[in-house]
Amino acid sequence: MNGRPPNRAKAAQRRHSPGKGPGPLNAQASAALIVHRVDQGESLSTALPERLARSNDADRGRIQEIAYGVLREAPRLDFLADRLLSQPLRERDRDIHALLQVGLYQLWRLAIPTHAAVNETVNAARQLGKDWAAGLLNAVLRGFLRQREALETALADAPEAVRLGLPGWLLNRLRADWPEQMSALTTASLARPPMTLRINLARTTRDEWLRRAHEAGIPALPHPVVNSAVTLETPCDVRRLPGFTEGEVSVQDAAAQLCASLLDAGDRQRVLDACAAPGGKTLALLERAPQLDMLALDIDATRLGRVHENLERAGLSAVVRAADAARPDEWWDGRPFERILLDAPCSATGVIRRHPDIARLRRPEDIDPLTARQAELLDALWPLLAPGGRLLYATCSILRVENELQIDAFLRRHPDAHEIRLPEGWGQARPQGRQILTGEDGMDGFYYALLEKPA
Ligand SMILES: C[S@@+](CC[C@H](N)C(=O)[O-])C[C@H]1O[C@@H](n2cnc3c(N)ncnc32)[C@H](O)[C@@H]1O
Repeated sequence: MNGRPPNRAKAAQRRHSPGKGPGPLNAQASAALIVHRVDQGESLSTALPERLARSNDADRGRIQEIAYGVLREAPRLDFLADRLLSQPLRERDRDIHALLQVGLYQLWRLAIPTHAAVNETVNAARQLGKDWAAGLLNAVLRGFLRQREALETALADAPEAVRLGLPGWLLNRLRADWPEQMSALTTASLARPPMTLRINLARTTRDEWLRRAHEAGIPALPHPVVNSAVTLETPCDVRRLPGFTEGEVSVQDAAAQLCASLLDAGDRQRVLDACAAPGGKTLALLERAPQLDMLALDIDATRLGRVHENLERAGLSAVVRAADAARPDEWWDGRPFERILLDAPCSATGVIRRHPDIARLRRPEDIDPLTARQAELLDALWPLLAPGGRLLYATCSILRVENELQIDAFLRRHPDAHEIRLPEGWGQARPQGRQILTGEDGMDGFYYALLEKPA
């Protein structure tokens, strides 16, 4: 005791509203709160920005790095925590479990001094209003440092889902779909993805942009396969990118950028982007042909806000509408589309490296409803296509059932549809469409199939 009376009001405030108290939390506490929210079923894309908005500018990069790292390594960190704790933490202390994961991740994977990692984690427990956990965390983290070698040996013999860091049901599906590529796929799914950009080729050339990036001290390389794409050597804040606010460059994986050349929509054609938000592909299509008569639809009105922002930044225009693409009777004016992009809602198993929360939140029972939804969207949109028109089906999934098997079933249901073979040089040809497996040519896992209605 230091003789001063405890400040009960402050302690109580911290207990009831961690992170809403007077000062910002340290990076460890902030990262733990993000991980905890994902653990409770929220997506990283909601939990992360909300917490970052309440953090110091200087801490944001570190918070993000720790939160992503912990989510990538979660099964392994849980394995370590189980062995170090004499009994599991109570359900109401899952925030402390998340903080323990943060502490272990720092000691195990980040090159920071161990005493700083331990002290900051212990301080974070106090900031979260759980002073009682300070001693426990201190002991467990020091235990890890002492037993590290034995723990790593035990980890090598752990069950597959722990060792490979992905849930068992997903590993089983990947093994069934991609037996030979399984090992590369699991590694790529948990690797840090590159930051890839799309250059607006209507405004500048890729070489010119690379020259300006080099001058600005941002080393970048042209993507080997996609001619609008560049890959940064190190991720950086978009505000530092030359021409970002003017719409000369946008963040988008190279696999997603392929949509524009594959759909090949020409100026003034009537185009439907049926699942458009947040607008990455809408923009890619419009940058290639700015005069398109584009309708960008999405069922999620909130996410459509991002489409408006993106269009405004790039100085491009489209009709943007919140509607269920599977219910054209509610929004279609009866004029056929010459091109349709269906970037369907999917398991997102091809982008786990960018959204590691997917590995935790996605459930095996999600897959059947998703494939049913994709089939429903395909069937509902096909009649809207003009004779001679083309529909590009896309997913960021690596599961065959959402991709080639989905298109195979569609072609059986619609004898008037035929598949156009896609150009080579990326991914791999499948019986229907082409598949990019996560990490190939540095790209996200992605699938495309192009369907045509006879003239
Ligand atoms: C893969 S994301 C689209 C990404 C977007 N094309 C891009 O490149 O930025 C799938 C989108 O489908 C939307 N969606 C899901 N069901 C839908 C439906 N029935 N009608 C329209 N949009 C739907 C979701 O809200 C989500 O924004």
